[in-house]
Amino acid sequence: MSKSLYLRLGGYDALAMFATKLIGAAQKDSVLGRFWENRSADRNDRDLQVLIDYLVRETGGQMYYTGRDMALAHKGMGITAVDWTRFIEIVQNVAGELGVGPTEGGEVMVFLESLKGDIVTA
Ligand code: HEM
Repeated sequence: MSKSLYLRLGGYDALAMFATKLIGAAQKDSVLGRFWENRSADRNDRDLQVLIDYLVRETGGQMYYTGRDMALAHKGMGITAVDWTRFIEIVQNVAGELGVGPTEGGEVMVFLESLKGDIVTA
């Protein structure tokens, strides 16, 4: 049996690192930062852990995801196609920084693209 994307990306620690860097960069970003304005540290900690759980589950790891589905989680935020493009750029930067290979990187992109319709609503 072929190895899951989860294992090929490096398992839990690698995905936790990826999510932490991604959220950190998005929160500081001039295009995306507005989505995290006026949020409590507790809320941000919770969102980060839930994102890690989600990524682990979706890539084939064993994690029980307690968060909402992507449409509900992002409903009413007004995320635009421009925001999405910037988000993908940040994902690519972080993936490059962490040395994600082209095969795994491509699979991550296909997965993210499958979520776009639920997340981009403006
Ligand atoms: C432009 C792109 C995106 C923006 C601006 C964005 C922004 C946000 C914000 C502000 C929250 C906090 C919601 C809350 O606490 O009520 C959130 C939650 C979340 N986002 Fe995103 N997001 C984006 C793309 C994505 C993508 C591509 C994924 C999946 C790979 C994702 C996964 C999640 C998860 C799992 C949560 C927590 C769900 C929950 O609250 O139960 N987001 N997002």
